[in-house]
Amino acid sequence: FLIKSVVNEVDYRKKLESAYEELKVLDHAKSEFVSIASHQLRTPLTAIKGYISMILEGSYGSLQEKTKESLTKVYQANERLIKLVNDLLDLSRLESGKIEIQKKKTSLDVMVTNVVEMLKIQAQNKNLYLKMKKPRELIPQLDIDEQKISQAVLNIIDNAIRYTENGGIVIEVSLEKEEKKIVIEIKDTGLGMDKKDIQDLFESFSRGKVATKHWTEGAGLGLYIAKKFVEMHNGKIWAESDGIDKGSSFFIELPIN
Ligand SMILES: Nc1ncnc2c1ncn2[C@@H]1O[C@H](COP(=O)(O)OP(=O)(O)O)[C@@H](O)[C@H]1O
Ligand SMILES: [Mg+2]
Repeated sequence: FLIKSVVNEVDYRKKLESAYEELKVLDHAKSEFVSIASHQLRTPLTAIKGYISMILEGSYGSLQEKTKESLTKVYQANERLIKLVNDLLDLSRLESGKIEIQKKKTSLDVMVTNVVEMLKIQAQNKNLYLKMKKPRELIPQLDIDEQKISQAVLNIIDNAIRYTENGGIVIEVSLEKEEKKIVIEIKDTGLGMDKKDIQDLFESFSRGKVATKHWTEGAGLGLYIAKKFVEMHNGKIWAESDGIDKGSSFFIELPIN
């Protein structure tokens, strides 16, 4: 009996091991697929962007208003595709551990101001205010990967604009001297979230009730990517809301190293 059970266990272990190997191969194939697909998609999408820009700018002659309007829609749709492909690429890189951090001394308040500038038009188009508070204290420079933290902040402000219908967004960068950290707060007067949503928000491909109800575009990757980038800097990211229709606040906290 003893021998039989030992044999069984060996057998069982072998099966587990081979299942694990199979899973690893599959997982690798998946990452590989996403990565190749993203690269192959990105090149033509970028070409489309370039040509549409040139046509819109009038490089091939002036356009009728209607043509301009339609072409602008094509341009915007293409932008959404580029964003999605970039997010998928980031996801596959994150999952295969292929993302590298390139740190340099960065002024967080300047960095955040630049992101705000980039999104001004998007807010204006929805008649929302997008304001950045003046920091109360001098914000010391941080040694960070500026591109990654910018991306995280951009993903959050982009959401704030997307999931707000009235009012707007206020952003504040503050220094917490005692705790040796810098906090970026992004507060909106938008659609808010319930407890369940807040819990799952930062998972990959997770979209809240608000997103599905209002049928906004998105794959549910923005916050997952933001979280990973912030955690690579030993930082924290979290969300708060008093509930549906009560607005939301998002926080990124980075240690002063
Ligand atoms: N400012 C916000 N207000 C309300 N809900 C939000 C806000 N930001 C994010 N969410 C919720 O979190 C979900 C996940 O966000 P994200 O990862 O950026 O994916 P996506 O925007 O593509 O849906 C969104 O689908 C939305 O339900
Ligand atoms: Mg988003």
